[in-house]
Amino acid sequence: MSALVNKPLLNVLDGHRENIPPVWMMRQAGRYLPEYRATREKAGSFLDLCFNPELAAEVTLQPIRRFGFDGAILFSDILVIPYALGRKVDFVAGEGPTLEPITEPQTVRQIRREVDHGLLEPIYQTIRRVKPELPDRVTFLGFCGAPWTVATYMIAGHGTPDQAPARLFAYRHPDAFDELINLLVKASAEYLIRQLQAGVDAVQIFDTWAGVLPPEEFARWSIAPTRRIVLAVRDVIPDAKIIGFPRGAGAALEPYVTEVPVNAVGLDWMIDKKFARERIQKVRPVQGNLDPLVLIAGGDALDRSVDDVMRAFSDGPFIFNLGHGITPDAPIAHVEQMLRRVRG
Ligand code: CP3
Repeated sequence: MSALVNKPLLNVLDGHRENIPPVWMMRQAGRYLPEYRATREKAGSFLDLCFNPELAAEVTLQPIRRFGFDGAILFSDILVIPYALGRKVDFVAGEGPTLEPITEPQTVRQIRREVDHGLLEPIYQTIRRVKPELPDRVTFLGFCGAPWTVATYMIAGHGTPDQAPARLFAYRHPDAFDELINLLVKASAEYLIRQLQAGVDAVQIFDTWAGVLPPEEFARWSIAPTRRIVLAVRDVIPDAKIIGFPRGAGAALEPYVTEVPVNAVGLDWMIDKKFARERIQKVRPVQGNLDPLVLIAGGDALDRSVDDVMRAFSDGPFIFNLGHGITPDAPIAHVEQMLRRVRG
């Protein structure tokens, strides 16, 4: 059935190879686009934009109109889950997210057990608005953060370079941390199920901070909870298509793909391509992994880097993407150059 669907990105998630790899970019709706900045200004705060179905749908569609990507990603943020669990979440211009931090194990016990799906309803509305506007060949992606990555922001209350506060909290208070992770597993699974029911074709689980954990902790706090989310989603939607992105996992990508039955795995820009081709892509379709910084540089460096990625992965099931999100200072002309190079 699915091989007949004319969506190249979905075909890859089904295990097929496409002659020209489908392409999209993490953070493709963002500040590098003037049309995004204009809509963002209209919306008020960043969270106001996430919870405004009309404007969130607009920014979801902007990069599709401009670049004709094969994937459209729902415009939202991973931190809407802590928000729907009753935590205070703010986005301060120039500083990134701020949340009320969690410093004591007792605080975990006081967090709401259930997400308030009423608060998340505007996001499901955004999905229903975007869906009919997308060209048939475009795959619509929903997403959530992996419990570990979401927990790092909930514990520290802001971004940090190494997530020391969450790592320390997990060592000092493993039971309370486990409780927090369990809460997030349940909330995230419900959230993804509702996104799929509202109309996304596939979902991605962003584990941006996977790479700061030692292997044993990675198995416990990243692999195991992500596996439980995938199984819980498939319990309700058996053929749900899911991409996992454990950024920085390195050699631990092997146990990740063995234990987490995702349809594809995202590769960051740091991974050894030979390892990824031989040990990961042999067992699971891959997505990635252009260094986002080469999109700022442009020129020969960009051409060469695109060619390196294509040479490494285009013989198998592969989705072209960056190795992490595009940065606000990436010139649009370089995105166009990248697309010409990928599509030939
Ligand atoms: O990819 C897309 O286009 C969809 C939208 C999307 C956003 N955030 C929009 C956003 C997605 C998928 C995310 C995921 C996200 N959010 C992650 C995981 C992936 C990643 O990028 O690492 C994380 C860790 C967050 C948390 C978050 N949100 C941070 C750390 C920041 C501040 C950093 C920054 O770039 O300002 C955000 C804000 C954010 N989320 C912006 C966008 C477009 C920028 C805010 C603005 O427009 O003012």
